[in-house]
Amino acid sequence: MNVHDSEKVVGTLLQEGYRQVETVEEAQLVLYNTCSIRDKAEQKVFNRLADYKKYKKQGKTFGVLGCVAQQEGEKIFERAPYVSLVAGSASYTKLPEMLVQIEAGNSRVTGLDDRETDACFETEFTARTHPHRGYITIIEGCDKFCAYCVVPYTRGKERSRTSQSVLAEARQMVDLGYTEIQLLGQNVNSYKDSAADPGKKKSFAELLAAVGEIPGIKRVRFTTSHPRDFGRDIVEAIDAVPALCDHVHLPVQSGSTRVLDAMQRLYTREQYMERIAWMKAAKREISITTDAIVGFPGETESDFAETLDLLEEVGFDAVFAFKYSPRPNTPSLKLEDAICDEEKARRLDVLMAKQRELQTRSYKRYIGTRCEVMVEARNEARAQWIGRTTHNKTLNFTAPDSAPPKPGTYAPVLVTASFPNSLIGEMVV
Ligand code: 5AD
Ligand code: SF4
Repeated sequence: MNVHDSEKVVGTLLQEGYRQVETVEEAQLVLYNTCSIRDKAEQKVFNRLADYKKYKKQGKTFGVLGCVAQQEGEKIFERAPYVSLVAGSASYTKLPEMLVQIEAGNSRVTGLDDRETDACFETEFTARTHPHRGYITIIEGCDKFCAYCVVPYTRGKERSRTSQSVLAEARQMVDLGYTEIQLLGQNVNSYKDSAADPGKKKSFAELLAAVGEIPGIKRVRFTTSHPRDFGRDIVEAIDAVPALCDHVHLPVQSGSTRVLDAMQRLYTREQYMERIAWMKAAKREISITTDAIVGFPGETESDFAETLDLLEEVGFDAVFAFKYSPRPNTPSLKLEDAICDEEKARRLDVLMAKQRELQTRSYKRYIGTRCEVMVEARNEARAQWIGRTTHNKTLNFTAPDSAPPKPGTYAPVLVTASFPNSLIGEMVV
């Protein structure tokens, strides 16, 4: 989401007559997009800002965008006085006006008060940084208020685009040569078509199917799904439309219903498993990935054991696991029973080791199968090509020098070996 926000900001600036350069040294205006989902990400921002200090003497202008900007607000001016712009993502539609103020010499411009907006950050022109995959935002903000999460406070309330504008952007991307689209939102399943005509409103699953049916589109992905709103119709859409990728990222956060309740996740372990069962009953094999948090306040050894047990029961294809990180303004800050960092680190290690072992075993199922990959790039050092399967797995493969595959195209690959996080193969010629 942040990568795509940066693409939209760059697109907006280019429209205003700015030119993008490669390095901070060359730039006159430096906008730094930031993430505050966990404390570590936030700390990086301040370290990087300290590095930028030296450039101020050269007359460069600095702005801080994104969630740290929204969260810290004008305090950033105190901590880093060489910053002239502080704006959260809900204010980006006003970026052109804010830049005019900066050019007029205003050295403290803010965009922080727009979190109640109904407007999405729609731009006529988005600079695409990924050469083959095009991101399209369908919904911004989040109304879920999970107890640990800063997003509803930094990105503001949920607002969806019209399906018409999403589909128009997808068609435009096909015209530009993109064949893979990734639909983005903090919670894509909460998508509510804002089309004025009730007859034209599409559900998320209908929008997904409609994007997948656009001629020229080969792959559609979407992220992130919230289990509470994840409907069976999404699995039916994947079954019905070949272009929808066989992959769903469905963050579980914990395998313990007690912890899920404390996290205000609005579902039980059983309800989560019901959604898994829908996916496992799909016509095509759907790869399932998840996010998990360890050490949430009050998480007992037995709650944690339930998370480990869930990993085994589901057989995820990847797990992104994090130590619980207390975040400003969130309800879980007030919870007692904090777990010390050493214990969080231990649980994280145990969880990752377990998942690695599960993946080591389960990725072997691909050996001997033929997968279509989107060719992403060449790894010269290893004399291999890097591909991605519909299951979102990295498949590194060799191809004859006489018939090198072209990045951005699709190639059939025979899988010959597997690692815990990737596959190896040979292009079928
Ligand atoms: N502490 C740790 N992990 C968090 N996440 C979100 N907020 C926190 C937090 N306060 C994780 C969740 C989410 C992912 C994007 O980041 O697992 O799904
Ligand atoms: Fe955060 Fe929960 Fe919203 Fe996801 S659904 S962005 S975890 S509040």
